[in-house]
Amino acid sequence: MSRRSVIAGTGSALPRRRVTNAELAETVDTSDEWIVERTGIRARFIAGEGETTASLATDAARRALEAAGVAPSEIGLIVLATSTPDQTFPASATIVQAALGIDDCVAFDVQAVCSGFLYALTVADSMIRSGAADHALVIGAETFSRILDWEDRTTCVLFGDGAGAVVLRAETGERGILAARLHADGRHNQLLYVDGGPSTTQTVGKLRMKGQEVFRHAVTNLAQVLREVMGAANLDVSEIDWVVPHQANRRILDATARKLGLAPERVIVTVDQHANTSAASVPLALDVGVRDGRVKRGDLLVLEAMGGGFTWGAAAVRY
Ligand code: COA
Repeated sequence: MSRRSVIAGTGSALPRRRVTNAELAETVDTSDEWIVERTGIRARFIAGEGETTASLATDAARRALEAAGVAPSEIGLIVLATSTPDQTFPASATIVQAALGIDDCVAFDVQAVCSGFLYALTVADSMIRSGAADHALVIGAETFSRILDWEDRTTCVLFGDGAGAVVLRAETGERGILAARLHADGRHNQLLYVDGGPSTTQTVGKLRMKGQEVFRHAVTNLAQVLREVMGAANLDVSEIDWVVPHQANRRILDATARKLGLAPERVIVTVDQHANTSAASVPLALDVGVRDGRVKRGDLLVLEAMGGGFTWGAAAVRY
């Protein structure tokens, strides 16, 4: 039997400070009512002093290692998805590696914005199946609060900070990542972007988005890739136990589920409490579902995400 990447453990981490819509409305021209009605978001966590993408990633990774019963020294590969690294370089994955006390492994970052975790998971899965590593840490971690324009109410209310991680283990058997599919369409790279960068402005830049157009593409692309990945795994949408989606907007989750004929109770929703944490949102939501007992061993999961680029992807996983 061939090697598969099994999710051996999950972990997550959030900044200390929780910010409600009401608190935001004290400094931004918005209201709890507007945010809840248009997005389903009620609160988000915002990184404070000493909290960075790599520190949150390290905390999430430690919890995932503990849940998996895997020692840091067993990790052969770290793939960290982020668009808000601690520094332009070195990769935040190497900062996490050092913090975990791992002397030698492969460590690099992947940048596909909100689809970053699906991209990282797929790369790690390929490397595990090829025999390049037996244990991998796949992390999504972000501090989007640091690239938001806090005077732009159309974007600043939508995002939050956090990290999620999984430990993958090579196994032969029924469990593991059954299929994964990734896409990108760079023609839309100006609908959701950051207006700065090392090679252009020499600044970090701020997030800019044409929200309505992103929304329209998101529902179409996500429904399409979810069907595609189920086809690749030779499974029917009706067999899915849990959809673990990227948490951008409650209305996107509901519209995608409707389009696929999926019961809303089968969708893990955390956007109300975390807002959009970009590459962190899928592993964060997975960890919430695992720890509250909804996601059980043997369940069929579909992880999916869409983000700037556009990039999008999905993975079917026998947990
Ligand atoms: N508080 C109060 N009013 C706000 C507001 C806020 N935070 N943000 C925008 N508004 C106003 C707008 O100015 C507009 O006012 P106007 O009609 O006087 O011009 C009105 O609300 C409606 O704005 P609109 O952009 O049409 O709202 P919408 O229903 O499309 O919702 C988003 C906006 C951003 C919530 C929605 O488009 C969305 O979720 N898009 C997808 C974004 C996303 O998830 N991106 C990440 C993908 S990875």
